Amino acid sequence: MCGIVGYAGTATKDSDHGALEVLIEGLRRLEYRGYDSAGVAVVADGAIHARKKAGKLANLENEISENPLPASLTGIGHTRWATHGGPSDVNAHPHLADNGNLAVIHNGIIENFAEIKALLVKDGVEFLSETDTEVAAALLGKTYREQDTKDLTQALRTTVNQLEGAFTLLATHKDHPGVVVAARRNSPLVLGLGEGENFLGSDVSGFIDFTRRAVELGQDQIVTITPDQHSIIGFDGNPAAGKEFTVDWDAASAEKGGFPSFMEKEIYDQPAAVADTLLGRSDAEGRMTLDELRIDAEELANVTKIVVLACGTSAYAGSVAKYAIEKWCRIPVEVELSHEFRYREPIVDESTLIVSISQSGETMDTLMAVRYAKEQGAKTLSICNTNGSTIPRESDAVLYTHAGPEIAVASTKAFLAQITATYILGLYLAQLRGNLFSGQIKDIMADLGKIPAKIQDILDRSDDIRELARSMAEASSVLFLGRHVGYPVAMEGALKLKEIAYIHAEGFAAGELKHGPIALIDEGQPVFVVVPSPRGRDSLHSKVVSNIQEVRARGAKTLVIAEEGDESVQAYGEFVFYVPETPTLLMPLLATVPLQLFACELATVKGYDVDQPRNLAKSVTVE
Ligand code: AGP
Repeated sequence: MCGIVGYAGTATKDSDHGALEVLIEGLRRLEYRGYDSAGVAVVADGAIHARKKAGKLANLENEISENPLPASLTGIGHTRWATHGGPSDVNAHPHLADNGNLAVIHNGIIENFAEIKALLVKDGVEFLSETDTEVAAALLGKTYREQDTKDLTQALRTTVNQLEGAFTLLATHKDHPGVVVAARRNSPLVLGLGEGENFLGSDVSGFIDFTRRAVELGQDQIVTITPDQHSIIGFDGNPAAGKEFTVDWDAASAEKGGFPSFMEKEIYDQPAAVADTLLGRSDAEGRMTLDELRIDAEELANVTKIVVLACGTSAYAGSVAKYAIEKWCRIPVEVELSHEFRYREPIVDESTLIVSISQSGETMDTLMAVRYAKEQGAKTLSICNTNGSTIPRESDAVLYTHAGPEIAVASTKAFLAQITATYILGLYLAQLRGNLFSGQIKDIMADLGKIPAKIQDILDRSDDIRELARSMAEASSVLFLGRHVGYPVAMEGALKLKEIAYIHAEGFAAGELKHGPIALIDEGQPVFVVVPSPRGRDSLHSKVVSNIQEVRARGAKTLVIAEEGDESVQAYGEFVFYVPETPTLLMPLLATVPLQLFACELATVKGYDVDQPRNLAKSVTVE
């Protein structure tokens, strides 16, 4: 998830801004979308002039003050959230092509970049970066150069019809001052309409300081802007149209996409977070393709034990992974809290695979545990959401989640992306070890591919869970029960409530209640229960329904999360929220969402800052 800005303007008497000011202001507002690096390119004096720097936008501004750009009225700008290639100057956007005459910026993941790169290298193209974006730029440059018409829009159209994956691409060429072209597929792009100037942005905050007239662009569309007009066509070349609207958000809420908090925005980002994490990890035949892993496949196939190291929400993702990986791979999976792991002299050796899970990649507890495990000879694989952070850098291999920057302290989209990444890893291991047939793997990946739409279905039905939260604003304690993969979901639901609504909440394995905690139940005690699918062949479902009856018989207020069609819970749930059907192992990706919404709404109703809860930090970089 990167920040993108494009501008084409004219020098008019009352326009006191040139391209650079528009680009920098836009990038400043978009920096929340990515802050690994930033860069701009402008068209001036018959040439492309570009500046780009790793790190925050301030680094780029310093670079420009030391190496000024010529005045210009056409340009593109980018803040990067790294996916392919770590945060560095050379991997920063824009990427140049066509002998430096073309500049390109990109948001998304181009799945087939490796095949295209191989063909271009054969053609003599030399690449400077590790990015998929530079490949797209080189393809566009080649296409443009080979065209007789030198039509940048048509060259972009030819190019994007060869790309697979999710992308928003912006380009500008020295031959076309005053023109910026852009294309979008599965990645956001909005057009801003001004007087004698037009804008492009990954969202409206990219140009909200200059215009509030916007046009939302549709899937597979190409837009060309000049200072006084814009045109939209489809990837098929036919005329197309976007949806015009007026931005009535203030700048601050624009950065949150119009949501009241980053946390809520990130809850609603979850369909994309899961979809983007799945992207490019299996091929058309359904075979897992984790080329990015740098551990030898043979070594991976022969691990005898997996130890997950993580903290907090990330540890609950690891607990979900335990159920899936043990079922698919028949490898024992131990889930360890990082801060406990290295103080108990754990049994770890060369045949152990350490899987660390960390959104930030900077959690000191997890970093120290990974270092300890490496000293014992274990192989280390990092599942991380922050490209180039310390834990992946110190690991033998990394499987990045592609949830985009998670700003709110309370983890939501990263959690679902982490679970998705552990499923991908488990299926890859099962493929290497031959535990699952290719058809089984393909079926599970197909089920995973349906999850984003199912999450969206839940998000579209959030009113009931929000109303429940508002009715419970005075609750002083809430319990959460779950079995099997529902147990980590219960733990996560409790953690969300604790960390943003400051309400005592506790998650339990449902079967554990009768071994003591049921003494907590008295009249009106709210108890969430995550109920597994009734379609499972095991007796999980009936046992959990019994647990609901046990607490209800003692006066609990039962709040049930169950699978659509499961009428059996109606008799025992004072409140029932249904999630779409899905195989049991994948259910955490759905059952978690209403619990996130509940906690977010309750904290909001209580007037708390859901993005920056008291006492907490987004990344705990101390032990
Ligand atoms: C989750 O909502 C919390 N912010 C916290 O438990 C977090 O998951 C934990 O500190 C681990 O952080 P990491 O994923 O960045 O390593």
